[in-house]
Amino acid sequence: MAAQIDPNAGPVLELGGGTGALTREILATGLPRDRLEVVEINQQLARELHAGFHGVRIIQHPAESICEQAAGGEGAYQAVISGLPMLAFTPVQQEAILSEAFRLLAPGGAFIQFTYSPRSPFRRPVIQNLDLRIERIGTILRNVPPATVFGVRRAADTD
Ligand SMILES: C[S@@+](CC[C@H](N)C(=O)[O-])C[C@H]1O[C@@H](n2cnc3c(N)ncnc32)[C@H](O)[C@@H]1O
Repeated sequence: MAAQIDPNAGPVLELGGGTGALTREILATGLPRDRLEVVEINQQLARELHAGFHGVRIIQHPAESICEQAAGGEGAYQAVISGLPMLAFTPVQQEAILSEAFRLLAPGGAFIQFTYSPRSPFRRPVIQNLDLRIERIGTILRNVPPATVFGVRRAADTD
C-alpha cells in the first residue's frame, strides 16, 4: 500500500470498506484521516466503519454512482483503492464504477483493485471502452487465499 499512496499528496477514496482491513493499511501509510473517504453500501458495515475510524468520512452509497457524494471533487484523488467483489459485477456495473473513479482521479492517478483471483477481474470490453491499461502490481501471499493487486490507469498516462 505504501507504494501506492503518498501521505503528502491528495485525497484517497476506498471502495467497499467492509470490515476495514484495507482502511487500516491505508491509514498506516501516514495518510491523514481527513484525506480518506470510504464507500460502503451495507448500512451495518458503514456504521461499524464510522465507529471504528474516527475522522475518516464514511459514505454509505453504491460505488456505481459515487461522484456526487465524494467530497474531494473531480480530478482531485491521488488513488482509488477497491476491495469491491469486482468478479461478481456485470460489465455495466464495472464500467460505471471505473467511469466514476476516473472522473475523480487526478491525472496520473491509479485505480488499485484487490482480488482473490490471480487473473484480472475486469472484463476486457470494459477496459477497452474506457481506454484503460491494467497491470499486475503484486501478490499478497499471507492472505488465504492469496490476494492479487491490479493497477488500472488511463492509457494516455502510460503511453
Ligand atoms: C470483499 S468485501 C470488503 C473487503 C474489505 N477490504 C475488508 O477488509 O473487509 C467487499 C465490500 O464491498 C461492499 N460492496 C459491494 N458492492 C458494493 C457497491 N456496489 N458499492 C459499495 N460497496 C459495495 C460490500 O458490502 C463489502 O463490504
